[in-house]
Amino acid sequence: MNKLFFLSLFLLALFIQNVTAGQKCRALALEAGGDLGSFEAGAYKALVYNLPAEEVQYDVYTGISIGSINTLGLSQYPKGQEKDQADWLINLWSGLKQKDVYKNFKGGIVQGLLYERGIFDSSPALELLKKVATKPAQRKINIGTCNLRTGDLVRYNETSSISTLVSAALASGSVPTFFPYSTLDDQIYVDGGTTGILIDLQGAVQRCREIVSDDSDIIVDAIFVKFSKSLDLWTTDKKKKTMEVFQRANTVIAFSNTYRQLLDAMSLYPDVNFRYIIKPSHALPNQKMPFLFSNKQMNEMIEQGYQDTLNIIQSNGSEGNAKQVYQEIVQRFQTETGSNIQNEGNRQEQMLNAYNKIRNSLKM
Ligand SMILES: *[C@@H]1O[C@H](CO)[C@@H](O)[C@H](O)[C@H]1NC(C)=O
Ligand SMILES: *[C@@H]1O[C@H](CO)[C@@H](O)[C@H](O)[C@H]1NC(C)=O
Repeated sequence: MNKLFFLSLFLLALFIQNVTAGQKCRALALEAGGDLGSFEAGAYKALVYNLPAEEVQYDVYTGISIGSINTLGLSQYPKGQEKDQADWLINLWSGLKQKDVYKNFKGGIVQGLLYERGIFDSSPALELLKKVATKPAQRKINIGTCNLRTGDLVRYNETSSISTLVSAALASGSVPTFFPYSTLDDQIYVDGGTTGILIDLQGAVQRCREIVSDDSDIIVDAIFVKFSKSLDLWTTDKKKKTMEVFQRANTVIAFSNTYRQLLDAMSLYPDVNFRYIIKPSHALPNQKMPFLFSNKQMNEMIEQGYQDTLNIIQSNGSEGNAKQVYQEIVQRFQTETGSNIQNEGNRQEQMLNAYNKIRNSLKM
């Protein structure tokens, strides 16, 4: 009796293992970046059209700011319809104009500054989002916003109602002072990028852990827009004007910020299979003030997104380019800090050890 029981338990375990073996969770993280979201559309199409169908059946999308608006749109399609989904996204961006996103208040900027919740009127974006999201999300999603009272990154997910997700996505993209904030659950929400977190890689891993139990079954792709190949993209002639310097400075800040987030996520989750790290081969126009929503420029960025991604796929194959990007950013980090993190082991373990040491010394 006992033997039989254990035998059946053993067989059951084998069976369960067979069922779950080979199951993967695929996640895509989309970075913040205003009209640079058009690059994401082109990049997404290249992934979907040039990789095997199964490899782009994402279980999870995470987004901050414009990335979360793309996320909400992508979530309208169930797994298996990635080509339709990509075509839809391209269609949205290629036809987009500034007036579809925001306009001046009747009393202009003065009204915005003194009497409204933001300088520009983003009601067109709200109407657009209502058209984008008409169905409950068909996949797991994170919409990253910032709660302006607490400063926390707050993630809305597929369990919220459509209207909540629409408001959350609008909030997620509402750069404070430029665009009006959103009120949700009596709290004030603004652009998720306000927290300094421009891409939700950690959320992508966490949501995948709901689907698979082993980190090695998690595949994460990411589309960056503010993190180009390197920063050597500027000439150093002495005729630079104030605004150019301002924009360049902001590019440097965004670059440093983003590369550290990638480094952190890859170091924290060493077993996760980071696969494609898509980033522009050269800086996109208006990197730090990407609110022009010029139709011509957005169509150029769609094209660049497609080409840059195709190049990465063609030169790096199905393994992706993340390991190589990791080497690049580790080198950058080492120059900045003078340290050698490759010899320092797993950062998560280190952080825990440090925490325990401090805890013990404080007798907590
Ligand atoms: C999804 O959202 C609901 C409602 O806000 C929240 O209770 C839940 O914890 C969220 N799930 C995850 C995995 O964050
Ligand atoms: C990935 O592609 C780049 C060129 O885009 C190339 O320099 C690099 O060696 C490739 N890496 C791998 C691992 O194939």
